[in-house]
Amino acid sequence: ATATRALFMLFGATGDLAKRKLYPSIFNLYKKGYVDNDHFALIGTGRREWSDEKFREVILDSVSANADSEEQAKAFASHFYYMSHDVTNPEHYDALSDYANKLDQQYDIEGNRIFYISMAPNFFGTVAKNLKAHNCLSDNGGFNRLIIEKPFGRDYDTAEKLNNALAKSFNENQVYRIDHYLGKEMVQNIIALRFGNPLIEGIWNNKYIDNIQVTLAEKLGVEERAGYYDGSGALRDMVQNHTMQMLTILAMEDPISFKDVDIRREKIRALRSMHVYTEDEARQNFVRGQYGANGDQRDYRHEDNVPNDSITETYVAGKVLFENKRWKNVPFYIRTGKMLTDKFTRIDVVFKKPLVDIFASAKGTESELNNNVLTLFVDPVNKIILRLNGKQAGQGMEMQPLDLTHTQSDEEKAATPEPYERLIHDAILGNATNFASWDEVSRAWEFADVIRHVWDTDKPDFPNYTPGSMGPDAADELLARDGRAWVFNS
Ligand code: BG6
Repeated sequence: ATATRALFMLFGATGDLAKRKLYPSIFNLYKKGYVDNDHFALIGTGRREWSDEKFREVILDSVSANADSEEQAKAFASHFYYMSHDVTNPEHYDALSDYANKLDQQYDIEGNRIFYISMAPNFFGTVAKNLKAHNCLSDNGGFNRLIIEKPFGRDYDTAEKLNNALAKSFNENQVYRIDHYLGKEMVQNIIALRFGNPLIEGIWNNKYIDNIQVTLAEKLGVEERAGYYDGSGALRDMVQNHTMQMLTILAMEDPISFKDVDIRREKIRALRSMHVYTEDEARQNFVRGQYGANGDQRDYRHEDNVPNDSITETYVAGKVLFENKRWKNVPFYIRTGKMLTDKFTRIDVVFKKPLVDIFASAKGTESELNNNVLTLFVDPVNKIILRLNGKQAGQGMEMQPLDLTHTQSDEEKAATPEPYERLIHDAILGNATNFASWDEVSRAWEFADVIRHVWDTDKPDFPNYTPGSMGPDAADELLARDGRAWVFNS
């Protein structure tokens, strides 16, 4: 492993995400030797008045379960420093800059800095601006990189404003916009499968593929996050980012190499060929839902902190079209929602049926052949199933589905880093492949904004689906209208 010297500056150090995901991830990188154990420090900031001791207790608490020994966890925690910080107070950045320089010297970090903003999105721009204005960026030859959490804006205009604010302090190639779905093993495997196998790439087009279905299903409701979620809704929370990223990787043309610039170029080309709907088309091709009550489960409108006339959607399904030679006439159907049957993410690539069914024609019957389907299970298990038609054992020529299945082994699973660990590591290495570029994010907003506008204008008939189901009937009708059905439907 190449160990990288780095000083982290984390905004939102007392937050939940930091405790649950970031500290354990950085700890794993430390254990594996990807961050240089002697030349690394982290300054955590938050509004609370914490001491270094208190901060380190929190760190220990979040990493101990995963430590080889208490000494190891303590040694790790000793690199953590806390500064109480009001992100809107310019003077605080001067103090931060001095502290960063001091730690840089103390740990001989050589000016490599990673700024990580994990806090309420309305502060993203302020933090970035002040970092530069108050000399928190190093200028002695090390790198300065900014990792920024979602949401990246709430529509095109706010995203652009935010991006302009960031651009005053960081170049595009220094900005790492997190989309944790890009850190998932099976999402990354899409690229491996597509571009490592002529067998797959050869049929990855409208000649052989009938449609592609992407499902991001969640079993839970909004839990304690209604404060954020009710102002967002599923379209912003899951479609504009995670779902669009998955679609892009499924749809893009071959990159000339597996380098971030080459991959990004193709992702952007794919997104530019995506058809942005008119408002009327959006009404036709997107459906929304909000969950009702079921037994003990309250309806969305009666969850804590949700107004009882909320029209926020907790479910979205839609049809997305790419207008290019490869995908002409191949719909990509997407759906995501809270309170569905189960927690899973899957991609179903549905192939066309044979033009002629020689088995049926010999018998003079209707064809019973199924579509071949390649299913990539992204969560909770990493699994691939290729569903073919095969012969039933025995006399005669009866057909039956035949599944070729690959499941990730327990050893592989254990060796698979969590998305955050992988993405932070990529940022340390300066590899932006699995981060969302501004061109991608902005295009996705252009697409989502039309739908959002229609939905903010038209009054929905909510609630319209039952917790524990796969969403509203309209989502089935969306496909039925095209003579199709969801592969997973129960
Ligand atoms: C987040 C959303 O980005 O993704 C959440 O804000 C959602 O609402 C989560 O629950 C799903 O991520 P995962 O990795 O659990 O599928």
